[in-house]
Amino acid sequence: MLLPVSHRVNERGHLEIGGCDLIELARRHGTPLYVYDEATVRSRCQEFMAAMGKRGEVLYSAKAFASPGFLRIVASEGLGLEVVSAGELHIALRAGYPTARIYFLGNNKSEEDVAAAFAAGATLVLDGFHDFELLRRVVPAGHRQRCLLRVSPGVDAQTHAFIATGQLDSKFGFSIESGAARAAVEEALAQDSIHLEGLHSHIGSQIFDLRGHVQALEIMLDLLAQLRAEQGYEPHKLGAGGGLGIAYTDADDPPTPSQFVGTLLAALERGAALRSLRQPALVVEPGRAIAGPAGVALYTVGSIKDIPGVRRYVAVDGGMGDNIRPKLYGARYQPLLAGDPEGSPTETVTIAGKYCESTDILVSDAQLPEVREGDILAMPAVGAYCLSLASQYNGLPRPAVVMVADGRDRLIRRRETYDDLLAAEIL
Ligand code: LLP
Repeated sequence: MLLPVSHRVNERGHLEIGGCDLIELARRHGTPLYVYDEATVRSRCQEFMAAMGKRGEVLYSAKAFASPGFLRIVASEGLGLEVVSAGELHIALRAGYPTARIYFLGNNKSEEDVAAAFAAGATLVLDGFHDFELLRRVVPAGHRQRCLLRVSPGVDAQTHAFIATGQLDSKFGFSIESGAARAAVEEALAQDSIHLEGLHSHIGSQIFDLRGHVQALEIMLDLLAQLRAEQGYEPHKLGAGGGLGIAYTDADDPPTPSQFVGTLLAALERGAALRSLRQPALVVEPGRAIAGPAGVALYTVGSIKDIPGVRRYVAVDGGMGDNIRPKLYGARYQPLLAGDPEGSPTETVTIAGKYCESTDILVSDAQLPEVREGDILAMPAVGAYCLSLASQYNGLPRPAVVMVADGRDRLIRRRETYDDLLAAEIL
């Protein structure tokens, strides 16, 4: 299902989300507008949490979308949070995120990052030998920093090469294959400032085939058996990362959050028993699978250009500045008309943005009913990695964001103004 759980077509034939008519929302807030459905955010969080139960932790990966109004909802569902910079941590703290549930990752942390994580009381995920030195500088004598240690299991996730991270040739984590992971665990156990709670991994993103995750767990369990034998170390936590894919078009059929968590828990239980290991708690950190399906972008159709026999360009008032994913990852989307969501497709059009680049194409070959200037185009599944990657390229202010629930819309981020374009400039 591409649309948020609360979607329906109302009496006027308009698409509605969270009890709010999308045409009405576009009129009141302007476009481009990102609409998030609170019911979808909550139900995705709840599905992960229910599947995990007491056997581990679910963290939300803030990089997918980190507006405080969104984070508060995730926090209220009991999830932890994964951040990757002092900036994301700052946003989380301003949102009032419970700090004991925050994990701080990153492959090239600065001293400032490590100091911020320590001050907040977050768990730090060690990613390279450099982190040991930073901790020596930051953690005062007599104190300890809770840590996980990120390993690179050396599996190839079946996803776009730009978002695969678990293979040997990766900038992330301590490689198991090369022996770096064992050496790093030894060093972490020897360093007084570190309390090593366990290991962590993440193999990639937008993954449908969970065999890569299972294989990574198996490799990590082999490492655990080795660590127990050689160093007497048995971790309490084992992180399997995020990566669960979502549907962007009707052709996509990803596993559900329960299948994702269930598959990993079963592999962990089986694998630990097989090696007579104490079963560590599982830590997962989905981003896209929570935020992605909750968001729908609204654009207004402007100019329509026909090149007879070649292509029909339908241009909208956003584009690569608010959604760079088609350009960056070849991502495909399936838009519909908010005022005629069930209309049968009569034409194939290319949805172009308004940025001055010929690659600023949101969707090539979209199937839609007849599109006219002024129509509102709704783009499902844009809740993750669109606004968090957004820019002010070409001097276009970033869009507003509303959270909808029970017939009410709440502005959680206002539309940027032209003055916001100058916010950091010295005039
Ligand atoms: N944990 C770690 C260590 C990660 O690096 C990531 C994503 C996640 C968790 C969350 O992964 P998810 O559950 O969202 O797949 N901008 C790209 C995706 C980049 C993912 C980066 N890391 C995109 O738009 O497809």
